[in-house]
Amino acid sequence: MMGPETTMTPRTTGKYWKPSFLVYMLLVLCFLLIFIFFGILLSKDMKLSSEVRKLQETSKDLFPCGSRSWEWEYFDGRCYYFSVEKATWHMARSQCQAKNSDLVVIHHDAEQNFLQYQARNMLFWIGLHDLKEEGYWTWVDATDYRTGFMKWNRGEPNDSQGKEDCAMISETGRWNDMPCTSSAMYVCEKPLPS
Ligand code: BGC
Ligand code: CA
Repeated sequence: MMGPETTMTPRTTGKYWKPSFLVYMLLVLCFLLIFIFFGILLSKDMKLSSEVRKLQETSKDLFPCGSRSWEWEYFDGRCYYFSVEKATWHMARSQCQAKNSDLVVIHHDAEQNFLQYQARNMLFWIGLHDLKEEGYWTWVDATDYRTGFMKWNRGEPNDSQGKEDCAMISETGRWNDMPCTSSAMYVCEKPLPS
């Protein structure tokens, strides 16, 4: 009984010691490979994130009014919406307010030229009215009318038939007062999104 056991033990020990070292080495190698694999994945992910960030910054430069909001035009630090549908002056103002903006307030020649060019001889409501008191023209923001920029057509505002209290960009590009219940397209304006 003792004979076979004594002869088997050294053979068994010798036989299993070498493969277990090999398995250990293989395991170490596997861990190393997994480590390298995840390292590569992580570095690729970080590179991709930085490229996405760069692209987002570029699109902010190209589309300051928002890369997804194609309907807003950028000009000189502000965003403008030119409606494609017509509305009364009050409806137009509500539409602008629903877009977190208001009817356009025109401050200088460069802005007037931009609006005139975009309007292409069509009628667009602007944020100017004398609804509270005839002849007392008021911009929808706090801009002072009397000391501010004006570009009326010759002979305007004329309050034709005593019914014209809202201003629009006319066919000439200059302004005309019209009844606020008339239908026209409109221009909304808002600051750059932060
Ligand atoms: C006048 C404008 C007026 C418009 C009304 C034009 O002929 O020049 O002042 O607002 O008619 O339709
Ligand atoms: Ca008029």
